[in-house]
Amino acid sequence: MRSFVGLFLGLWISAGLVLGESQTAIERIGFGSCYKPEKKTELWSAVKQFDPQLWLWLGDNFYNDFVDGKYIAFNNDPQAFVKGYAKLKSSQGMEALQGLMPDRVMATWDDHDYGKNDAGKEYARKEEARKAFVKFWGSADQAEGVYSSKDWGPAGKRVRVIMLDLRSQRDPLPKKGQGPSDGDMLGEVQWLWLKKELAKPGADLVVIGSSIQFVAEKHRFEKWANFPKCKGRILKLIGELGVKGVLFVSGDRHNGEISCQKGTEAGYPIYDFTSSGLTEVSSITEEENPSRVGHLVNGQNFGAFRIDWSTADPLIIGELRRADGTVAETVSIPLSQLAPPKR
Ligand SMILES: [Fe+2]
Repeated sequence: MRSFVGLFLGLWISAGLVLGESQTAIERIGFGSCYKPEKKTELWSAVKQFDPQLWLWLGDNFYNDFVDGKYIAFNNDPQAFVKGYAKLKSSQGMEALQGLMPDRVMATWDDHDYGKNDAGKEYARKEEARKAFVKFWGSADQAEGVYSSKDWGPAGKRVRVIMLDLRSQRDPLPKKGQGPSDGDMLGEVQWLWLKKELAKPGADLVVIGSSIQFVAEKHRFEKWANFPKCKGRILKLIGELGVKGVLFVSGDRHNGEISCQKGTEAGYPIYDFTSSGLTEVSSITEEENPSRVGHLVNGQNFGAFRIDWSTADPLIIGELRRADGTVAETVSIPLSQLAPPKR
């Protein structure tokens, strides 16, 4: 009898702890991309100061095609992924985020940690890359990619984070001068999964992690706008399912910016917070983006969400912070704005 009571008590306490952990409201989320683990930067002290409860790695978390100080077209070293993740593991960044590992860190990849510049579904080492990713990040072992989703916080203050995989199933990029492609980036298996994740009730805020930019359309690099059918499909899905509170975070560009697209089928303004890079910085310091809010952020940066749940209409304060921790750009979004207008 005593041991039964003891077992019951033990189960009750551990269930409570698990529940307690996931029931803490998330008020600070950090995110970033484009990281060369061998580079030292003061940025991680600023991240530590921000003290995120959750960190999102948005891809190019290391550069598998950057060897001995230069980019190579294809890394055929059988140990390439082992070496890449080992470098990341012993990096300043992982040290700074140690307290969050493994459960409070979510990740997706972009082309360089997938293994090859601009690579998509044709990439020869994709299965090796996927296994190495799952082993390192401990994320769900999906059949066709590295996408994942997790809910955080109690009812009424619940954040759902959906990390997409835009590499494993991405069709070839449109050729130069040919305009956008009819193709897809997710693949039907991931679309089905995404629909299920978006349709699940209970999320107040839905952060979608995308390795490439969702909103910005004018530049010549990778973007959702290269696949307009695919972009239209996710916006339509959000609209049809009536999902409220969706915003995007992205990386890839070695520049940071906040963009906002209005008039889409989602039914409300879609924000895209691009933070890039943690170490990598573009030589492009000006770029056309009619959807940009504020200025382009050139220089090392990370993203920071501060969420104030205490008011009747919770406030999401989205920031891009420089390596010294100063806020370069910020937007405050009342959660009620991330919903179709009431008729
Ligand atoms: Fe990058």
